[in-house]
Amino acid sequence: MLVNMRNLLTDAKSGNYAVGSFSVANMEMVLGILKAAEELNSPVILQIAEVRLRQSPLEIIGPLMVAAAENAGIPAAVHFDHGKTMKKISQALDIGFTSVMFDGSHLPLDENIAQTKEVVAMACEYGAAVEGEIGCVGGSEDGSENIAANCTNPDDALLFESETGADAIAVAIGNAHGNYKSAPKLRFDILEQCSKLVSVPLVLHGGTGISDEDFIKCSKTGVKKINIATATFDSVENTVRRCYNENAINGYYDLQAAEVEGAYRNAKRHILIFGSDNKA
Ligand code: 13P
Repeated sequence: MLVNMRNLLTDAKSGNYAVGSFSVANMEMVLGILKAAEELNSPVILQIAEVRLRQSPLEIIGPLMVAAAENAGIPAAVHFDHGKTMKKISQALDIGFTSVMFDGSHLPLDENIAQTKEVVAMACEYGAAVEGEIGCVGGSEDGSENIAANCTNPDDALLFESETGADAIAVAIGNAHGNYKSAPKLRFDILEQCSKLVSVPLVLHGGTGISDEDFIKCSKTGVKKINIATATFDSVENTVRRCYNENAINGYYDLQAAEVEGAYRNAKRHILIFGSDNKA
């Protein structure tokens, strides 16, 4: 059932767990993630970032994601991740995405606030939710840019919340996109201050490579949406490789099944850590 991310995160807040927001690049990943969520009776978010549209065009993958969520046996939101341009954000809303992120983290604070406000007004016409980002999560979603991490100033987060009316705020607490070169040391002191000051759910980007303990700690400290991308892509690739090595792939449909399996395993693992199982 296609739902609004706002409702999923409100329930996660009262239930003290986090919802996994899984990046997808094709139908096989969508099927694998929904299979895991359905099996575990968990709400879930399917997302795609604007930088990934080169490989997976929005006008093709967007309707696929929405249709898959509509047909899912659990509540599923469809989210546009790291929106950079008003054009693509409005296209995602037209397609039926139930939430969009505007990533103004590279802008000066006042400009980030002003542009996020524009997106909130646009999304409001569709009843869709908006995620903003304050501070700067390291790296870019597709690894093409070496963006330096810049931890969130909790007072800025409070100002951002009251000025923009965003439904969720992504924080930077030492997290980064892609595989970490060394184990991340998350700034729980900053997260605690943000969660005390800000009332909307917080979002953790760069989920790949964060320890189970840290995920759980985040989910109990205001983080209600956790983004996972690279871990899914790696799991799909590794599962396919293993199946080839074991001579388990004989023909295209075995390959397709291995891709679904890779996405399924990764989503299942994360849903159980985030504690959203049996919360659908
Ligand atoms: P990872 O690729 O590190 O899991 O990050 C995902 C993400 O934050 C997408 O916005």
